[in-house]
Amino acid sequence: MKPIDWNSLGFAYMDTNCHIRYVWRDGAWDEGELVVSPYINLHIAATALHYGQAAFEGLKAFRRKDGKVSLFRPEENAKRMLVTAERTCMAPVPVDMFVDACRRVVKANLDYVPPYGTGGSLYVRPLLIGSGEQIGVAPAEEYTFIVLVTPVGPYYKGGLQAVKAIVLDGYDRAAPQGTGHIKIGGNYAAALYPHLLAKEKGYPVELYLDAKEHKWIDEFATSNFLAITKDGKYVTTKSSSILPSITNLTLQQLAKDAGIPVEIRPVAFDEIEDFAEVAACGTAVVVTPVNEIERGGKMYRTGPEIGCGPVLEQLYNSVQGIQYGELPDVHGWNVDVE
Ligand code: PLP
Ligand code: COI
Repeated sequence: MKPIDWNSLGFAYMDTNCHIRYVWRDGAWDEGELVVSPYINLHIAATALHYGQAAFEGLKAFRRKDGKVSLFRPEENAKRMLVTAERTCMAPVPVDMFVDACRRVVKANLDYVPPYGTGGSLYVRPLLIGSGEQIGVAPAEEYTFIVLVTPVGPYYKGGLQAVKAIVLDGYDRAAPQGTGHIKIGGNYAAALYPHLLAKEKGYPVELYLDAKEHKWIDEFATSNFLAITKDGKYVTTKSSSILPSITNLTLQQLAKDAGIPVEIRPVAFDEIEDFAEVAACGTAVVVTPVNEIERGGKMYRTGPEIGCGPVLEQLYNSVQGIQYGELPDVHGWNVDVE
């Protein structure tokens, strides 16, 4: 293993000891095995390649203050992958198998879990693909489930530093009755081009509106939308085409624990400047404040010019405090790896 500079990790792939791989054939999953090579030998007619039978998840393992390593709410990711598998006609990965796979692969890669105090984590990426061949459009008869891991630091440079977002009205991410609520690769392929456009304009993140009216806020490209109202409520968007974020669920619970009222409702873009604080939330981005949003050449202010608003900071500290074992895990969200 090469030495790793834990303090300068970004959100990038790094090879580790191994990944875990399971194959589903004739109606059953095998026992799974740890595989050293980061390559797979895939049939050229695999449905993942042609017809987009490809789904993934994202969660993290943390090295806590007491030295133990835990996964954060892995059953929630397992349940979400079941919804994705059903919608895309793929073999379901049972919750126990999913969690066990995450545990086994993290245990085999403990050297890659960033030390406590560095602010890093081990990103855990479950992947489910149709690996059997089909040439007519139909679900595969063979599936491969992989969990790979890689050590990561902050998704956007600078931790709790605010970022600027842009609404690109020429692009949609997901249709109201489409596949925005599940985690398939195709959703991200569709967002790559607008993402590059946004980056060229100097915006690290895009905010998507509902595809039907372009009136309601859906979510950011890789994270949910949340806002704090001037009278201190937590507001997040209700929409059929957003991914149900586990981080958002977690923050909602932490907000309620702190006596902050939570509202889940359609949020019109017209309201954007009424909020005191706006953020993107997700496993990779944790809670990232968004203090300015551009739409059609106009800038909207959505948070303090520098730094982070007080409520977002409180929520960020609570979630990270639990993940790193600095605060009591009263909801039982941390799942020990060993
Ligand atoms: N929305 C999208 C489109 C995402 O890709 C993600 C990342 O997983 C999220 C929201 C946040 O979900 P979670 O908090 O479960 O990571
Ligand atoms: C995550 O937060 O886990 C994501 O999936 C975001 C992105 C890396 C796709």
